[in-house]
Formats: sequence, C-alpha cells, structure tokens
Amino acid sequence: MRARLTGIGVACPRHRIVEDVAGVASAATEFGTDVVLKTTRGGYDGKGVWMIDASTPADVVAEPFRAGVPVLAEERVDFARELSAVVARSPHGQAVAYPVVESVQRDGICVEVIAPAPGLPEDRAVEAQRVALTVAAELDVVGVLAVELFETTDGRLLVNELAMRPHNSGHWSIEGAVTSQFENHLRAVLDLPLGSPAARAPYTVMVNVLGGDLAEIYPTYRHLMARDPGLKVHWYGKGIRAGRKLGHVTVYGDDLASLRERAWHAANYIRGDIDE
Ligand SMILES: Nc1ncnc2c1ncn2[C@@H]1O[C@H](COP(=O)(O)OP(=O)(O)OP(=O)(O)O)[C@@H](O)[C@H]1O
Ligand SMILES: [Mg+2]
Repeated sequence: MRARLTGIGVACPRHRIVEDVAGVASAATEFGTDVVLKTTRGGYDGKGVWMIDASTPADVVAEPFRAGVPVLAEERVDFARELSAVVARSPHGQAVAYPVVESVQRDGICVEVIAPAPGLPEDRAVEAQRVALTVAAELDVVGVLAVELFETTDGRLLVNELAMRPHNSGHWSIEGAVTSQFENHLRAVLDLPLGSPAARAPYTVMVNVLGGDLAEIYPTYRHLMARDPGLKVHWYGKGIRAGRKLGHVTVYGDDLASLRERAWHAANYIRGDIDE
C-alpha cells in the first residue's frame, strides 16, 4: 500500500519491509528516529502496531515477526495531531469529500472525532481532501474511503493508513452531515448520484464508548436521554470486552468546548466511570 501511494505521489512516513530484528536496527539508523513496526495484515485498533525505541527489549522487537507475515518498519512521525479525510466515489467517477476531521487516539485506539478539525487552515484541509480524492480515483475505489493522516509539527500531511469502507472517523456524519457516510456508501455502490457531504452545524463531536467495567447499558440511556435531549447514542450490540469499541455518542452545535464536554460526559457515564 505504501509503495502504491508513493507511486502516485502521495506522501507517507519513510518506511521499508524488514525481515528480522537486525533489519529493525538498520531501519532506525536510516530513519534517524524511533521505529514503528506494523504487521502487514490483520491489524486494527492499534493491534499489530509496536512502538520501538533504543530501550525496547529484544524479545519485544522480535514479537511482530512471529505472525509470519511481512513486517513494515516506518519512522516514528512527530505529529501535532491526526486527521482523517473521508470521501465517497461511485463507479461513474463522481466523488464527494467530507469536511476533514481531527481524530484523537489513546493507546492506538480512536477515542474522539471532531468535525471539522479545529483551526485547520483552509489550504491544508483542501490538500487533505485532494489526497483522499486522488487515492480514491487512482485505486478506483467504489464507496467510502477514509484516509488517516498525520499533521506534522512542521505543517506537512503524511498518509498513515487507508480504510476502504465507512470508517469510525466518519461516524459523526450520521447526524452531523447532510448525507451520512453510510448513505453515500450505498449510493456509490448503487452508482446513484451522491448526496451532499456538507456539515449541518459548525461542529460535531463523536466520542467512542470503549468496553470497561460496564455491565448493564439500558439504564444509562434513560438518564442520558433525560439529561441531554440533543445527544445521540449508537450502540452496536457487540459483546462487551475491555477496550473494544461498543458504540458511540454524537452531539452537534456551535460551541466546541461544551459539545466536547457533553459527549465525553455521556461516554464516561455509559462506561460507568462517573455516576451522574
Ligand atoms: N509512523 C508512526 N509514527 C507515529 N505514530 C504512529 C505511526 N504509525 C501509527 N502510529 C500511531 O498508532 C496508531 C495506530 O496505527 P494504525 O492506524 O497504523 O493502526 P491500526 O491498528 O490499523 O489502527 P486502525 O484502528 O485505525 O485500523 C495511529 O493512529 C497513531 O496514533
Ligand atoms: Mg489507524
């Protein structure tokens, strides 16, 4: 994937495929920085990603090689934040680009998405959308494509990862955009005209609910519905497991600070981290 992107002129972190622990050390020398190792298949939510520095024990560095699939070593990017550019493209070539969002990660898992990314200069937002539209066109994508990006401290955009499907960083669009990523995915697959990806409000905030100690979900709904009539709760009906994405909450409006406060309150309440 990295090679293909580089081939179409899209900037990625410096990288190479490594065979063994010695290859990791040599990649670190080449990149002049700490190294991130990724198994090239089967990763999600930070599983399949190892942050390696000079103090990492050799048996940990050896771990990614145990799965028997090629291992990608890449530079550890000094990013200011992570962004995501979601686009939808149909077989007849029509494409739409959603507002570029900020995705906040904790321990390699997306915990919060803010649409649009606060304070992102217009030209950088357009650049991110262009990258996503280019990738979609070059790879002949049909449906939704999410492009995860690093915004570096010196203002560059580097592509981290592609997801060719409706993506967590686009869930905000269910309520926050005129046409959700799911609707546009279906329209694209059916080769129907795409709907507007425009935001309905100045800001939309989505917070994921990750599994923790929660046991009983339903009573929390009633309390949250009563407390915050503008809150939307989505529950995926999955089995509860620590760290697993079980659902998400969304709010939209004008004041970013209060939206974030409301969304985080709801997610923490569902998880049982707070009790009112
Ligand atoms: N080269 C890098 N430099 C710095 N941080 C990185 C790098 N690669 C990954 N990360 C961090 O690890 C997180 C997870 O990495 P990545 O998105 O590649 O893996 P994933 O497990 O497939 O995640 P996803 O759930 O998005 O599919 C990133 O969001 C980022 O915070
Ligand atoms: Mg990712």
